[in-house]
Formats: sequence, structure tokens, C-alpha cells
Amino acid sequence: MAKGKKTAFFCQNCGYESSKWMGQCPGCREWNTFVEEPTASCGKSVSGSVSRSNGGNRSEPVQLSHIQIQEDDRVRTEIEELDRVLGGGIVPGSMVLVGGDPGIGKSTLLLQVCRELTLRQHKVLYISGEESLRQIKLRASRIGEFNDQLLLLCETNLELIRSTIERTKPETVIIDSIQTMYNEEVSSAPGSVSQVRESTGVLMQIAKGMGISMFIVGHVTKDGSVAGPRVLEHMVDTVLYFEGDRQVAYRILRSVKNRFGSTNEIGVFEMQEKGLIEVKNPSQVMLNGRPTDASGSVVVCSIEGTRPILIEIQALVTRTNFGLPRRTSVGIDYNRVNLLMAVLEKRAGLHLGDCDAYVNLAGGMKLGEPAIDLGVVMAVVSSFKNKVLDPGILIFGEVGLSGEVRGVSMAENRVREAEKLGFTACIMPKANIESIQGKYKIRLIGVANIKEAMGYL
Ligand code: TYD
Ligand code: MG
Repeated sequence: MAKGKKTAFFCQNCGYESSKWMGQCPGCREWNTFVEEPTASCGKSVSGSVSRSNGGNRSEPVQLSHIQIQEDDRVRTEIEELDRVLGGGIVPGSMVLVGGDPGIGKSTLLLQVCRELTLRQHKVLYISGEESLRQIKLRASRIGEFNDQLLLLCETNLELIRSTIERTKPETVIIDSIQTMYNEEVSSAPGSVSQVRESTGVLMQIAKGMGISMFIVGHVTKDGSVAGPRVLEHMVDTVLYFEGDRQVAYRILRSVKNRFGSTNEIGVFEMQEKGLIEVKNPSQVMLNGRPTDASGSVVVCSIEGTRPILIEIQALVTRTNFGLPRRTSVGIDYNRVNLLMAVLEKRAGLHLGDCDAYVNLAGGMKLGEPAIDLGVVMAVVSSFKNKVLDPGILIFGEVGLSGEVRGVSMAENRVREAEKLGFTACIMPKANIESIQGKYKIRLIGVANIKEAMGYL
């Protein structure tokens, strides 16, 4: 770094700033992510300057009752799974960050958004810093017909982008991706923390100033070569993450922050020949190909946002060949699985101490809701005892450390979804049963502890 310029070390993963280099980031616990960069004060800092937009005038506080809002001004993309995750559509002037691993389908989804919006005579400007116009055209031809409301631009210089936006006045702008954008006033390279932060600040000014809604693509990288989207999570209005394996066709779009709607809402898509197709009934899809006569397989229900999703948990418990038992989990928190196995050992007298255990969630989903606890327990016991659970039974309930089964929220939604998909019985917390009893044809089995539940195997 040149002499005389102030520099600091930034974590490329979360943006943590430090005056000296460190091996591990105290903010996000990642290793080797610190890189020396000029501090923002060298260039003209613009991030967080939305509040300054009234140009140095004295700002006057106002009463809450005097603020007027217009309802129903959201723009629906008509991609239902996306609209729900956004909280009902795009809010004009809002900034949405779409994060995810490279190749997961961010550009594809946003191009599909462009198509739907332009079909409804919205003017959209798609700015790509990664692909040539030809590449975009090739992708577009796979997705379908486009009309002339869509403008494309290959550019990475923010000043040119600003002037183009001012000239063409689009209603929606898509930036693919923020890590390629370049602000001349900041001396560090594109993709570095300061560059990504300042560029987002500039874009934010444009979006809020002109009332344009903006989608920003941010790559998640493990090696820290470019700054991850975590750096700007706090600046934007909505943060959506694309999850899923590139090998598995299902993609889950999850909202982790939303100033205009509920979080933890998910949208499910499937990557096909012609782009991303919505999966309207994920439960049905997740249960496809489920074995009905295998031990260690149970179906649980988890509420994602407002929607119940039925999903299969599989467990395989075998005798350990080497000294230390091996435990792995896919899609479920590893520590939670260990805890539940300890509860089984102590409260139900199962000798799991010399057993390997593998617990998997089918379909590449990740679930963190405690309501799946009882399902994990039943899957492990079913595999351990080699007894098959009736495939028409759905299980949900939280398990406590003394082996008790606790009530969960939205029990009725879960029961309703189970009945809809043709299940014949629900093993569920006793505490939840009273309010639902008699409303549905499905048989409800209330259990108070894991021993009672194990009796149904
Ligand atoms: P892309 O949107 O380029 O990913 P990102 O922008 O997140 O890096 O999607 C890349 C993958 O999607 C690529 O491997 C090809 C696949 N794909 C399809 O399977 N079908 C399609 O119709 C399209 C457009 C892409
Ligand atoms: Mg892309």
C-alpha cells in the first residue's frame, strides 16, 4: 500500500475492521480472511448516506400519525414462490440482495423476473458485470420470449451505470453481481470489502433517490477471494439466499431479512431445461420415492415461515466397528442430534453409546425447527430396534432433556397438511391435542414423553 494513505484490515467474509492483521476473524470466526485495504475515509464515503438525501437542510422530526403510506403499491412478479418470500411483491424503491453459491441459479431467477415484469410493461434494466450480452441472450433463449421493455447493459463502472439509469429511467434495475462493480473513488480492487460497501452505498442512493427497485446479486464464497454478501446484509432492505446442492435439482429461496415482510419464508424451485420452475406443493415432492417398509424412516412436519412442509427423516444406527462411535447428520443440526441421542440413552435406556448413527433429511433441505425433534428420536429408535413405523403416520413435537414431549406452535396447520396428503394418524404432543380434537378425520395420538411415543413402533 502506498505511503501516507490510511489502511486497515478487513475480513472479506463479514466486513470486520481491524487495525492489525489477524489469523481468525473475531466477528465470524473464519480463518485467513483479513486483507489490507484503504479505509473508507480515503475516498468519499457514501455508504449509509440515504438519510443525508435532503441535502444538508436541517432535518425536522415528524409525528408518526402524519406519515402517509400507500398500501397495495407492491409490484407482483407473478412468480408466486418469489412473491411470497418478498412478502407479497416488490416494494418500489427497495433494495433486495440475492445471495448464493456460484452456479446455483441467481442470474437465471433474476432473468425470469425480468421476463415477468417486462411482460407487464415494466421497464427493466439488467446490468451484468460477469457475462457478455451474447451469453445473456443464450440464457434468455432457454427461458422464453422477451419483449423490448428489457434493456441490457454490460458495465462495471458505477458512474457510467448511474448516468445510464438516469438517462433510461427504468422501474427496476438488476445488478449482476455486486462483486464486479467498480467505484473510481475507492482505490481498492472490485470485490474487496470497501469496494463492495461503497458500491452498494452508491446504488442505494440511486434506488432511494429515484424510487427504483433494485435486485443485487452477491456471490457467497468460501475462500474469501471476494467479499461475501454478509458485508452488506445490514445495508439492504431484504436479503434472500438461494440454498441447495448444485447436484440436486431443488433450490430453496429463503428470506433471512425483510423490512417489508416476514422472514424465514421459503420458496421452492426446481432447475430444469427451461430455467427455474416453481414447486407449488413441496411436501408432495419431498415425499416422492419414500420407502414405506424400511426401518429408520419417518415423516415429520416443519413450519417454514407460514407454510407447513412434510419431509422424511432417515436414520441408520449400526454397531461401531472402531472405538469411537461415529455420528453424522445432513440437513439437521449435528449437536441437536447428539443431544437427542443422549436423551434416548438416559431416559429410554437405549444403549446407543456403542453405535454409529447417521441421520439425514431427504431432498437437500435444511431444517432447524425443534418440532422435528420427536421425528429424529423415532427414526433413531426405529432403526436401532429395526422396527418399521406405519408409513401413514406423521410425527411432530419438541423433545426436552428429561424426555418429555413439549407442545409446538401452529399444530393445527401441521395436522391439516397431513390430512391433505393422505396421512392416517399423527403422533403429536399431548399439550397440543385439546384445541384440535374432533376437527379432523385424521387420528390424533397425543404423547407426553418419548417412551409413550416409542410404544407406537
Ligand atoms: P446461473 O443462473 O448462471 O447461476 P448463478 O448466477 O447463481 O451463478 O445458473 C447456472 C446453472 O443453471 C448452470 O449450471 C446451468 C443451469 N441452468 C439450467 O439447468 N437450465 C436453464 O434453463 C438455465 C438458464 C440454467
Ligand atoms: Mg450469475
